[in-house]
Amino acid sequence: MAFSTLILAAGAGTRMRSTRAKVTHGLLEKPLIRWVVDAARQAGSAEVITVVGFAREQVEPLLEDTTVVIQEERLGTGHAVMMVADLLAREDTPPSLLVLCGDTPLITPDTITALVASQQQGGAAICMLTHLLADPTGYGRVVRDAEGNVLRIVEEKDATDEERALEECNSAAYCFDVRVLLENLAELKNDNAQGEYYLTDIVGICVAKGMTVKAHIALAEETQGINSRAQLAQATKVMQQRINNRHLEAGVTMLDPDQVWIGPDVVLESDVELLPLTMLWGKTTVASGSVIGPNTRVTDSVIGPDCRVDESVLIRARLEAEVACGPRAYLRPGTVMKAGSKAGTHVEIKNSTIGEGSKVPHLSYMGDAMLGVGVNIGAGSITCNYDGANKHPTVIGDRAFVGSDTMMVAPVTVGSDTVIGAGSVITKPVPDGALALERTEQKIIEGWTVKHRKEKR
Ligand code: UD1
Ligand code: CA
Repeated sequence: MAFSTLILAAGAGTRMRSTRAKVTHGLLEKPLIRWVVDAARQAGSAEVITVVGFAREQVEPLLEDTTVVIQEERLGTGHAVMMVADLLAREDTPPSLLVLCGDTPLITPDTITALVASQQQGGAAICMLTHLLADPTGYGRVVRDAEGNVLRIVEEKDATDEERALEECNSAAYCFDVRVLLENLAELKNDNAQGEYYLTDIVGICVAKGMTVKAHIALAEETQGINSRAQLAQATKVMQQRINNRHLEAGVTMLDPDQVWIGPDVVLESDVELLPLTMLWGKTTVASGSVIGPNTRVTDSVIGPDCRVDESVLIRARLEAEVACGPRAYLRPGTVMKAGSKAGTHVEIKNSTIGEGSKVPHLSYMGDAMLGVGVNIGAGSITCNYDGANKHPTVIGDRAFVGSDTMMVAPVTVGSDTVIGAGSVITKPVPDGALALERTEQKIIEGWTVKHRKEKR
């Protein structure tokens, strides 16, 4: 049955000690709140509504695919839900409402599905997600009767010593019968230790009216909220393991999975090998047979089959088959490495195409360049693509042999089957088949050294 989702994210998250809103912090480069939105969507949620308040100008841009509601004054989780009451009262609202917090990124679509199904089976008023902790400090506790039926939730600050000893915690994820929620929202009061309108009080209100309230017990690992940097680091470990295990099962080799970080949207084929200190982010894909790392960061790039990327940084680059990259190459946006090409040691390439089998092996910069097939760029050669105001293109034809330490001052064209003498500054077009040399003639002064040394004495 259909459900919609409400994600509460108006709070400040002061324990992060950050100038940024808590839910904008990244977990494997994806903002905390995006994990929650995406989990709800993957579980099949219809509309997703988000409540924002603190630093909303930072949070709202991350939520363009949701209905954003502002909570100006933050008077509690119950008050946050009151802000969306009108929206939920619409006739086309699905019968169930999933409520999640924006700072619980580890919740899985499977758990959400189970929570919603549990509420919908038998038409319970609420099914809440709970977890068991030996040290439940900070959480609201679930109070049950002798038969194990849920009675109410008590917040730690309002609890008696006996209640505080309870180990079942409220995870703050719930699935509500939306009509029941709306009918009872007005009954919430703020006469408690924190002077807030607690959403959790709905549980006791419904039980008192004889309605069914269920609890679905989840793993504490999944329901863990992020309140501090230490918890963010712990959650990152959990997510890293989940993602890496998925890739290991699908046939990816990792020398040490603890030292490999892979974003949630990265696609890896089987027989990819990842070496330590590798980070793969964004919409990166890596094809079979490629070896990445060690010490490599790849963002939003496409790596074809059988490539070798060693100690390099790639951002929005595309590598075809059997490309060699590094050690210590920097491939910036718009780099296209055709099949069998090479970007070697201390090579930087930006917005350029390196043709099939072409090689840029050492200490070069190629910017706004178009290289044909079988080109060889000598060590230290660069394109001077920037004149201080504008960027200009360099075109290098097939099989050109560019001698070491050549400066190609763009815009300039180097023809095919050309040779450029080492150390040349090329400012004029080089026609096909030509040798280009730009040097002063070498001077020889015989016996100079002996004489010079004598003078010094
Ligand atoms: C809440 C629960 C508690 C549960 C715990 C789990 C209540 C009263 N208590 O407590 O039982 O064990 O979560 O982490 O609900 N928020 C708003 N507007 C507000 C207040 C909060 O949007 O006015 C949002 C926060 O941004 C956060 C979520 O609601 O994402 C939970 O708020 P928080 O203050 O962290 O609640 P807890 O005191 O931790
Ligand atoms: Ca909390």
